[in-house]
Amino acid sequence: MLKIKNLTKRYGNKVAVNKINFSVNAGEIFGFLGPNGAGKTTTIKSIVGLLKPDEGQILINGVDNQVDILESKRQFSYVPDNPEVFEKITGFDYLQFICDVFKVPNEKRMDKMNYYLEKLVLKDDVHGYISGYSHGMKQKIVLIGALIANAKIMILDEPLVGLDPKAQHTVKELLREHCDKGNSVFFSTHVLEIAEKVCDRVAIINKGEIIELGTLEEIRTKIGKEASLESIFLELTE
Ligand SMILES: Nc1ncnc2c1ncn2[C@@H]1O[C@H](COP(=O)(O)OP(=O)(O)OP(=O)(O)O)[C@@H](O)[C@H]1O
Ligand SMILES: [Mg+2]
Repeated sequence: MLKIKNLTKRYGNKVAVNKINFSVNAGEIFGFLGPNGAGKTTTIKSIVGLLKPDEGQILINGVDNQVDILESKRQFSYVPDNPEVFEKITGFDYLQFICDVFKVPNEKRMDKMNYYLEKLVLKDDVHGYISGYSHGMKQKIVLIGALIANAKIMILDEPLVGLDPKAQHTVKELLREHCDKGNSVFFSTHVLEIAEKVCDRVAIINKGEIIELGTLEEIRTKIGKEASLESIFLELTE
């Protein structure tokens, strides 16, 4: 579904991501964990085409994102780490725009919109301008856009930051629902309990290199103790 081969990205002389490799399978929620500055956002921006890799290849649902750029963009939806996008339109118009881009059939739009807007308690505000939304509300509308797009893979950079506990819980359920249809989710997070609860597999990145990859069970077995993800994370990234 998503294949990263030998991805390297530098900023000037500084190597932010160094020859990383991993794959996300169909039906899987894959967590990308690592401390501040580890290279998560750099990797994600390289996947979605906002940064050009210095080396390596990225295949999104089999499409090379440096060769068939437009087709690769049809394979994913994206939530950036900062939801400050599209301020001057209403939430409703933003969702209509996303439906247009991802060719969601007209007759299905309202049902889909209402489903997600009700789930994330945003229905009453959908006709207001996004500029008037709180941080969490902006996060919600961008997440709803990414869900409504119904893309093969959702790519999310810190999607739960700023959401209240109920909304976090709902988003986790909605992501699982998306994957149960055979799609995939790739998301970065600092919230280890969330990774522990929702991810089928995780990769831990530190200083631009992947230091662990697998199910939590596999990582625990390898490290050889009944540790919490938090203690594994602290030990590995120290
Ligand atoms: N635009 C930039 N110019 C120069 N260096 C950058 C730039 N963006 C990121 N970096 C550097 O690249 C490295 C990786 O940053 P990145 O934003 O990918 O980390 P991250 O894992 O997303 O961190 P966080 O958890 O804080 O979001 C850091 O050392 C950072 O200083
Ligand atoms: Mg980041």
